[in-house]
Amino acid sequence: MPNVNADRLLGDLDALRAIGAQGPGVVRPAFSAKDMEARRWLARKFEDAGLEATIDGVGNVFGRSRNAGRALLIGSHSDTQPTGGWLDGALGVVYALEVVRALADDPATAQHAVDAISFQDEESRFVGCLGSRSFVGTLPPEQEAAAIDRDGVSLGDALAAAGLAERPRLRADAQRYAGFLEAHIEQGPQLEDDAKRIGVVTTIVGVRGLRVVFRGQQNHAGTTMMARRRDAAAALFDFAAAVNREFPRVAAARSVWTMGRVQLVPNATSIVPGYAELDLQFRDADEAVLDRFAGLAERLVAEANARGGVMLELQRSRAPIAPTEMDAALRRHLAAAAERHAPGQWLVMPSGAFHDAGIVSARLPAAMLFIPSIGGISHDFAEDSRREDIVLGCRVLADAAASILIGSDPFLGSDPIVMNGGHHLSKRGSDPERV
Ligand code: HGY
Ligand code: MN
Ligand code: MN
Repeated sequence: MPNVNADRLLGDLDALRAIGAQGPGVVRPAFSAKDMEARRWLARKFEDAGLEATIDGVGNVFGRSRNAGRALLIGSHSDTQPTGGWLDGALGVVYALEVVRALADDPATAQHAVDAISFQDEESRFVGCLGSRSFVGTLPPEQEAAAIDRDGVSLGDALAAAGLAERPRLRADAQRYAGFLEAHIEQGPQLEDDAKRIGVVTTIVGVRGLRVVFRGQQNHAGTTMMARRRDAAAALFDFAAAVNREFPRVAAARSVWTMGRVQLVPNATSIVPGYAELDLQFRDADEAVLDRFAGLAERLVAEANARGGVMLELQRSRAPIAPTEMDAALRRHLAAAAERHAPGQWLVMPSGAFHDAGIVSARLPAAMLFIPSIGGISHDFAEDSRREDIVLGCRVLADAAASILIGSDPFLGSDPIVMNGGHHLSKRGSDPERV
């Protein structure tokens, strides 16, 4: 069984945390100076671990094994939210580095190929999961051309400023891989609530984002009587209230929706706003539920416009991400490793956050492992996990990687997973729902 070096793992996580650290959190938005510094640091670490390291034309940091044969790809992302936690993405990237080293140090796996990757812009500064979309070939050129951040910076300018514009972009070779594994903090409370230490992910939610633009009439806050106003802010608040009234009627058990960005123009106390924007993001594991939410938003916009006064326009605010199922055979390996290292202390669960694994699963079998988030907090400087859980998660991932590469499928005894063009055909087949 591969031996994860806990001090080395935690030391590298702390070193990555220091790049872009702000208090207990981290600020390393995609393509920022700190993000690129962290990527160069990671490339050096991949080289030190014996991999051939490349930073590609969208900023993906890729470490290719020098070993022959079917490989396993492991990784996550190292860019962060504007007020990011130190483990969101970073955990899975440093785990990948440590699994490469642990399997290289173990004679039973030293000859197997493990590639490592840190994808770019998972956190949607420009395009959610930009790097993994580019890597698996699902980044539409028109989407890339139109991508700008919330400050109006274009993706093209960010690539040029980071010195990446002329670099070639890496593309996944599906035939090379047995699959992709991503470890991540849960970013929610379920593992902690259930006193579990490992999560094996079943499905990753789909995400859609809409922007509602409100156009009214800017005016004086004292002399403009209420009946004469075309107040863009009042229309925005009415729309938001209608969403919170109507969405629960079509929601499923784990549906969520967030109105996390509002813009009022000119955003002055004594001026009736003439313009406003509201970002509405919603998530669910079922496309039909996402379709219902989108249809409701359209109906609410049409009804508001029929009333007149302030005019509403509905725009798409982000690249949609479809819900995805994680690969059953890879999940079995994660579950078996979890049972070996944390007997009875693991569970199968959906992911309420989206992840690169969801994008990669369009081209490669993919699976995810979670460790608990303290207090279920994430996307906040307070994000944290217990160090013993961090170490346990890496041990489970390394063990699962070894069993995938060696070819034993734990729930099928010694039946090897028969690779057929990157898709799994286990010899006898089994009920993937067992895990
Ligand atoms: O928003 C998400 O689900 C991810 O953490 N970026
Ligand atoms: Mn993440
Ligand atoms: Mn995140």
